[in-house]
Amino acid sequence: MLDLFPESARIADGELMLGGVRAAELAERFGTPLVVYCEETLRLRARALREAAGREGRVFYGTKAFPNVALFRLLRDEGLGADVASAGELAFARAAGLSGDELVVHGNNKDAQFLRLAAEMRTVVVLDAPDEAALATAAGVERALVRVTLGVDADTHEAIVTGHHGSKFGLPPAEAKTLVGDALERGLEVLGLHVHVGSQLPDFTAQAETIRRLAEFAAECRDSLGWEARVADLGGGFGIRHHPEDAVPDAVELASTAAATARYAFASNGLAEPAVWLEPGRCLVGRAGATLYTVGAVKRLRERTWVAVDGGMSDNPRPQLYDARYTALSATRADEPATDAVSVAGMHCESGDVLIDDVSIAAPRRGDLLAVPATGAYTLAMSSNYNGVGRPAAVLARDGNARLIRRRETVEDLLALEEE
Ligand SMILES: Cc1ncc(COP(=O)(O)O)c(C=O)c1O
Repeated sequence: MLDLFPESARIADGELMLGGVRAAELAERFGTPLVVYCEETLRLRARALREAAGREGRVFYGTKAFPNVALFRLLRDEGLGADVASAGELAFARAAGLSGDELVVHGNNKDAQFLRLAAEMRTVVVLDAPDEAALATAAGVERALVRVTLGVDADTHEAIVTGHHGSKFGLPPAEAKTLVGDALERGLEVLGLHVHVGSQLPDFTAQAETIRRLAEFAAECRDSLGWEARVADLGGGFGIRHHPEDAVPDAVELASTAAATARYAFASNGLAEPAVWLEPGRCLVGRAGATLYTVGAVKRLRERTWVAVDGGMSDNPRPQLYDARYTALSATRADEPATDAVSVAGMHCESGDVLIDDVSIAAPRRGDLLAVPATGAYTLAMSSNYNGVGRPAAVLARDGNARLIRRRETVEDLLALEEE
């Protein structure tokens, strides 16, 4: 189970350590729930993914997994840019000092203000709607990609497939080609094409087929428009293990295979090898983060044992949204045998607020710390204030030091939004 936790995870004197800091010390200093990011894991992942993209390739962090200024800075330090999908995410990237050249702007419905901000920063904008070349040029955008949906269904949760026909993202080939032509006519520099098949992909099947179709589509654009894509942006989607029973191929190997396949497919269609751009989110920050909760009420019922923690669907809505399965470790008694089969309940007024349906942990007691691994992506990023609960804090830990990278929201923060 420790292999689901960040690289630095160790058990010492019966206690889980992350980034060289004891779980109890982290909880005492920063409170719980607390998302602890491991700097070592983030840096190792970033380096491996850069290598996977190849010499001409580039890696843009899929910000939606967790927009955070400190994380942007750390990843930039490793040579990564970021893909942003809203004016808010763009503002986070800007606050971290990323320049337009380090950013790719996404969105199936970008408004004029977002496009103007993107133009001001001179980012690459991924065109995603029939009239977006016109809107982008009016806003002053200079460089673009065109997002195409090639009709491939990925075998993942229906809420996170994006490359199928009928998707709200991108445009099917005929419309995408018209958009490329329109963008060129309007004087936009169209660098290349973008695809994103879906998230948490279980294997390479859907991506391989998408890349094959992408190269054919690129050849069709060359033949009918006299325009060649120099960039193949393959999006993100590389999965991680959240649970011991998850069998997911290694994300870095997949990314490397995807990049090589794209270069080969373009060459096979008589096209110049493209620069491959990748936009990994989950596989970059997912395993790097683990969440610490404090155990409260323990109810040993005939039907099951409930272990209630001080967070839940407000800090991690993935069990409700995607039927996501997690596991947990008693962080303060990590070397005791996992004797008790329990369900981990959140603290919200909702029967469905169950973080983990079924997990075995050391006999739980009020005050224990529970650690849930692989919670660095799409947890805090999707968090809410349900039941008037403030969002948790996040820290970055390394070599025995931990520092706050996002403070805990207080009730005062929430009340500040209220008008009489
Ligand atoms: C366009 C685009 N790029 C990148 C990503 C990141 O995906 P993942 O976190 O699965 O790597 C997403 C996720 O939805 C996306 O829509």
